Amino acid sequence: MHKTTILVGAQWGDEGKGKVIDFLTEDVEYVVRYQGGNNAGHTVVIGDDKYVLHLIPSGILHPGKICVIGHGVVIDPKALIDEIELLKSKGMQVEEQLKISDRAHVIFPYHRKLDELRELKAKGIIGTTKKGIGPCYADKVSRVGIRIGDLFDGKYLRGRLSANVEEKNAILRDFHDAAGFSVEEIFNDYAGYAEYLKKYVCDSTYLLNEAYRAGKSILFEGAQGTFLDVDYGTYPFVTSSNATAGGACIGAGIGPSRIERVLGVVKAYTTRVGEGPFPTEFESGLKEKIREKGGEFGATTGRARRCGWFDAVLVKCSVDINGIDSVIITKLDVLDDLKTIKICTAYNYKGETYSNIPGIPGFLEECEPVYEEHPGWGQKTSDITEYENLPENARKYVARIKELIGADIMLVSVGKSRKQTMPCG
Ligand code: GDP
Ligand code: IMO
Ligand code: MG
Repeated sequence: MHKTTILVGAQWGDEGKGKVIDFLTEDVEYVVRYQGGNNAGHTVVIGDDKYVLHLIPSGILHPGKICVIGHGVVIDPKALIDEIELLKSKGMQVEEQLKISDRAHVIFPYHRKLDELRELKAKGIIGTTKKGIGPCYADKVSRVGIRIGDLFDGKYLRGRLSANVEEKNAILRDFHDAAGFSVEEIFNDYAGYAEYLKKYVCDSTYLLNEAYRAGKSILFEGAQGTFLDVDYGTYPFVTSSNATAGGACIGAGIGPSRIERVLGVVKAYTTRVGEGPFPTEFESGLKEKIREKGGEFGATTGRARRCGWFDAVLVKCSVDINGIDSVIITKLDVLDDLKTIKICTAYNYKGETYSNIPGIPGFLEECEPVYEEHPGWGQKTSDITEYENLPENARKYVARIKELIGADIMLVSVGKSRKQTMPCG
């Protein structure tokens, strides 16, 4: 059994990471979030209950598993407290299971406000979740951010907060013509949040490395997806963190030599929420059909997700950039009714054919996908529990994906629940 596994989204997020993490948590002892914040929405369905996790690792639904929010995550304390309270009200043992890094950066109301105003004012909007993620990471990198541990030192916190609020208020007032914030109000609110969260806060890097030394198995839960990664994604239409596998080492504090396996989650088709290029996006008609069948509405913002064909060029790049050993294909069942199914195998751009994604400005916006067509299977798959029992054309589709992306297929998922998940091959 693998002791350390990183699981990433291999497309534009919402691949079904929450479901897969919940499925894999059975065999691990620690589950760790390492980047992003409450822009993430990871759905887990257990029986008739649906949980949407935003900050807390999706392993929390398994009693006894330790769930860690690493220092690479940005934390909106109020959102985290609401999530803790909700889980507690449903009987989860959050106090026994949850640990929060003292080095994680904190989202403040001015981050959310700036995120929102920038989206309103910008020429080319990104379509962010408006949770303050980008502005908080910007402060971290600008070295003016405030970390969870800082919330417990009143004098230090007041000083940092005053400097930040002064600067942010000037921007809000002079550039955005908007009202500013009061240091005292924020200080008091955040002192209350700190008191509430105190029992969960620890040096999570030490905790994890001790666990590793003791031979415990650790699953690192990526948020967002490879093409939303700030370095590798479809910049500037990306999120502000490293959603790729390398982000786990940085955001959880575990060295690369200690990672044994990288898994990628891919949808059997492609979706994207927010703005940005999407070469295989469906024309209207199919777009609405798949959106309805797949329930493709944002788990965080409720926005309709854009849908398109499976893009093998994209996922192959993802296999490379993350070092993915195996993938989990989700939502195969959503394609059950289609007569023919297309896979993008290359891009045509200005008379040349590409099997990669060069950093040419406008490439993904202007390229023409090269498709191959596969016959559908015209049969319901959501009740099937053995890979061999999937319709032949469904197995051929999965086998072709495997061939094109150059990674093993570990599991195939044909529904929201744990039992609708089958080992492949
Ligand atoms: P995440 O952000 O990657 O965790 O994914 P989301 O939770 O945002 O979106 C995935 C959605 O697909 C959720 O509503 C899941 O319950 C659902 N889902 C996951 N796997 C399957 C599957 O194999 N089939 C179907 N029909 N739905 C699935
Ligand atoms: P999970 O973990 C899909 C998208 C937003 C927007 C861009 C930047 O559930 O897969 P941000 O608020 O992060 O600054 O927005 O990133 N985005 C996601 N899209 N799934 C997510 O998370 C996302 N988190 C952010 O829609 O396009
Ligand atoms: Mg999601």
